[in-house]
Amino acid sequence: MKPTNLKTRIFLDGGDPEETRKLISLLGFLDGQTTNPTLIAKNPEARARLQKGEKFSAGEILDFYRNVVTTISGLIPGGSVSVEVYADAATTAETMLRQGKEMYSWIPNAHVKFPTSREGLKAAERAVGEGMRVNMTLCFSQEQAAAVYAATRGARKGQVYVSPFIGRLDDRGENGMDVIANILRMYRDGDGHVEVLTASVRSLDHFLYAVKLGSDIITAPYEILKAWGEQGMPAPVTEFTYDAKGLRPIPYRAIDLAKKWQDYDIRHELTDKGMERFSLDWNALIEPEKRKTAHG
Ligand code: E4P
Repeated sequence: MKPTNLKTRIFLDGGDPEETRKLISLLGFLDGQTTNPTLIAKNPEARARLQKGEKFSAGEILDFYRNVVTTISGLIPGGSVSVEVYADAATTAETMLRQGKEMYSWIPNAHVKFPTSREGLKAAERAVGEGMRVNMTLCFSQEQAAAVYAATRGARKGQVYVSPFIGRLDDRGENGMDVIANILRMYRDGDGHVEVLTASVRSLDHFLYAVKLGSDIITAPYEILKAWGEQGMPAPVTEFTYDAKGLRPIPYRAIDLAKKWQDYDIRHELTDKGMERFSLDWNALIEPEKRKTAHG
């Protein structure tokens, strides 16, 4: 059972429903799950198919993704399951929204993931206006989180998540956990309509520090949640301090949340790189001649 003093919701980051089943049995609960194109490409069934030299057609890969999230949704009916749209540098807001609407209809508890890019924010603004739940992914800065706040103003609580990717900042020598602390601090001046979902978690220390900071949600890979479960689902002790191990600090900036989202500087190299990686991993699943029709 979930520890009663743990307010943070715990999501699994993965594309294999077998992991979801195993964790529910180990932990006694899961509050939700996040998926993305790379994680779907790592699904054992998808990998086995590719190893046989068989790729998916455009329709087949969407059916496959739909089946995976439908199974996960059935395992966590009271939670949230994030499903990510295909988005490369050329994908328009229009196309993202069209995909998002389709994915949203797959399961009753979906959050649609849009990238925290200009087109992604445009799509999210419209999606939220139409009542959809969204998870803004590939967020790497406080400014991007401010833009998410502004683009989704008026949303109800629970409708909008922002996913700062801490591990990928750590990978390039910056202290990703600072971004979580900074966004949570900035959002204290707001109305609480955006929830912070700590993503790209690489260690139990990331996990425990995110709990300590009061992240609304954490998504973590199977191995980390398994280790946490096997240790008895510990909460960070009062004297817990996070060791950033020499990573460069990311300082807090005073940012006014009242601006239009278009007025924030949302560019981040890692958002562009992340979109590129996700689209490459997704395209690698599809027969080349079928790709053109796969992203409409
Ligand atoms: C979750 O929503 C993200 O897609 C995920 O945490 C990314 O993690 P990674 O940086 O390990 O790929």
